[in-house]
Amino acid sequence: MSAKWSVKTQLPVHYTVFESFDLFNPENNALLFDGQNSSQKSLRRVVVVDDYVERLHGERIRQYFQYYEIEYRLISLSVSEDNKSMDTVFQVIEELNAFEVSRRSEPVIAIGGGVLMDIVGLAANLFRRGIPYIRVPTTLLGVVDAAIGAKTAVNFQGHKNRIGTFYPPLAAILDTTLLQTLSDRQISNGIAEILKIALVKDAELFELLENYGAAILSSKCQNPEAVPIIRRSVQGMLEDLESNLWEEKLERLVDYGHTFCPTLELKAVPKLLHGEAVAVDMAISVMLAYQRSLVTYQEVERIYNFMRSVRLPLLHPICTPELLYAALQSTTKHRNGLQRFPLTVGIGAAQFFHDITYEEIKTAVKAIAQLEPNAAMQTSL
Ligand SMILES: NC(=O)c1ccc[n+]([C@@H]2O[C@H](COP(=O)([O-])OP(=O)(O)OC[C@H]3O[C@@H](n4cnc5c(N)ncnc54)[C@H](O)[C@@H]3O)[C@@H](O)[C@H]2O)c1
Repeated sequence: MSAKWSVKTQLPVHYTVFESFDLFNPENNALLFDGQNSSQKSLRRVVVVDDYVERLHGERIRQYFQYYEIEYRLISLSVSEDNKSMDTVFQVIEELNAFEVSRRSEPVIAIGGGVLMDIVGLAANLFRRGIPYIRVPTTLLGVVDAAIGAKTAVNFQGHKNRIGTFYPPLAAILDTTLLQTLSDRQISNGIAEILKIALVKDAELFELLENYGAAILSSKCQNPEAVPIIRRSVQGMLEDLESNLWEEKLERLVDYGHTFCPTLELKAVPKLLHGEAVAVDMAISVMLAYQRSLVTYQEVERIYNFMRSVRLPLLHPICTPELLYAALQSTTKHRNGLQRFPLTVGIGAAQFFHDITYEEIKTAVKAIAQLEPNAAMQTSL
């Protein structure tokens, strides 16, 4: 008889998400976080920065590390969805190798939007089977979503995020003062992900958004009311992630707005940003929920009015029922054969459905098109 061994083990996960403001001020040592309490701090760091952010803050970042007498290498990366690829991951790995980053005590620091953080996270995971890294998001979408989860990914052969890993950072440090330089469109993009959390699990957050969403947009998240809104959103997101970090459960509330969205993001011309595609998906989902008497028309109007107030699109010219149904079928495959379509029940709760039909989608799109005859204009803000 041949021998057989079975190995079973567990991997504890612990990472920290914390706020810290004015991160590049030498009086603030948060950026030196290494997860250890020891006074023997390691004095080497690779810092990878989105090149646009480097132009804005590069000088201060350099001065910061010089102030602490840290041996550092600052890499400025020009990234976008078009070069969110393994080639760029290897480019980062080359730098990590050249700097001979230690395996444990010299966390790589990623400063930028979701694209930059996804690339650096994957590079950190692959280099020497995983070295620690820290995410410093500089977009609103980064703060409320891309920085705080466990995933890394790059695009592959025209498919979004087709290659990726679960590899949580050592920490995500949230500094909303960095958001001041974002365009309005980028702020709206992030608000869409906050709205997602509000609609599926936090009615109070939706009220805050209704009251202060437009002010968040005009102040670029610098108004005092942005603080509780962003905090509630991060909290809501983390609660869902923590209970299902490896996505073993395929019914995920945080997938709300992400059913039609991958196809919309890929195919829409003029292009939709991720949050905008999520917004269009949510607008259709809300109408589907209304058609199933899960939300009232008054609730539909509240949601749509809010979306308009923060300049999020409700529809896009590409949204034919045929395309949306095909998108649903593709997502169903991804969700292991069941639609697992989250629909809101009122505002602040949701349920999953597996039987959404082509006819329902057609009726929903028609209804939104009547409300938004100018939908085609909305994405070219
Ligand atoms: N890993 C995850 O869990 C996760 C979650 C959500 C999204 N994502 C990924 O995140 C990406 C989208 O992220 P994003 O919306 O942050 O886009 P992005 O990283 O492309 O950044 C958007 C633009 O803003 C610029 N920018 C960044 N910070 C700025 C600042 N402070 N001031 C001015 N301009 C600034 C960037 O140069 C870029 O042009 C997608 O690729 C998506 O797949 C990942």
